[in-house]
Amino acid sequence: MTEPVPPLLDLRQLSKTYGSTQAVRGVDLAVQPGEFVTVVGPSGCGKSTLFNIVAGLEEPDSGSVVRFENRSVHSRDLLGRVSFMPQRDLLLPWRNVIDNAILPLEIEGGNRAEARAEAQRMLPEFGLAGFADKYPHELSGGMRQRVALMRTFMFKRDLMLLDEPFGALDALTRTMMQRWLLDVWQKHKRTVLFITHDVDEAIFLGDRVLVMSARPGRVKIERKVDLPRPRDASLVTSQEFIALKKELLEAIEEESLKTFGTAH
Ligand SMILES: Nc1ncnc2c1ncn2[C@@H]1O[C@H](COP(=O)(O)OP(=O)(O)OP(=O)(O)O)[C@@H](O)[C@H]1O
Ligand SMILES: [Mg+2]
Repeated sequence: MTEPVPPLLDLRQLSKTYGSTQAVRGVDLAVQPGEFVTVVGPSGCGKSTLFNIVAGLEEPDSGSVVRFENRSVHSRDLLGRVSFMPQRDLLLPWRNVIDNAILPLEIEGGNRAEARAEAQRMLPEFGLAGFADKYPHELSGGMRQRVALMRTFMFKRDLMLLDEPFGALDALTRTMMQRWLLDVWQKHKRTVLFITHDVDEAIFLGDRVLVMSARPGRVKIERKVDLPRPRDASLVTSQEFIALKKELLEAIEEESLKTFGTAH
């Protein structure tokens, strides 16, 4: 018998309150090393809040436990230990594509010339060949998102948090980026937590899909995705895929109705 591997990230009874708004309440979530976990849930249920805590940008309420690499840590100690792509791309308008991409490495005190050379090499893979010297205002929304994604990849940490990274992409580019992301993930064996509004995307990418409840968000249901890898586009028409999609959509719809049925 092999020893069970401890989770890379383990959240227990995580809660976060902003003034009179409780964003998340009692979130329990464990992510195994190398796992790809996708998170769906109604708008405003606290998904980004959860990520901001894991990225070390926000503190949870007292009593919440965050464990990382099998140790209890203060959330702010996670800053710089995970790579994070926030929901808004947050590119600096006065920096070109390359210098935006290398920003976290630069802050860390890495070698700027080496980082630039690596970013140059990665441009084609991110559909940005020839755009090294462009500034964010010269890029399309999708391109800006790909720069932010490239920046997240360049900051090599075991845990990668992606908050709706493909949200602004057209359907075709999105499908291409999903397959590309799976390739890169399989090659590099990174652990990924991925937020999306798109159930197809959640199933296609994930080892496991979590559905969050309406605010205050908690994990309503989680389902393993027992579909073979590497994943092929034809999977989306398989019986297993359709059955899982139906179940997840029903759970999301139930929660969305709660969200939109409540007076704000
Ligand atoms: N910094 C903040 N200060 C005050 N309230 C906040 C803050 N960040 C989030 N909230 C509140 O917490 C709740 C959850 O927001 P959050 O951004 O986590 O939702 P979400 O699930 O990511 O939504 P979406 O799918 O629309 O991105 C919302 O009611 C929001 O108003
Ligand atoms: Mg969000």
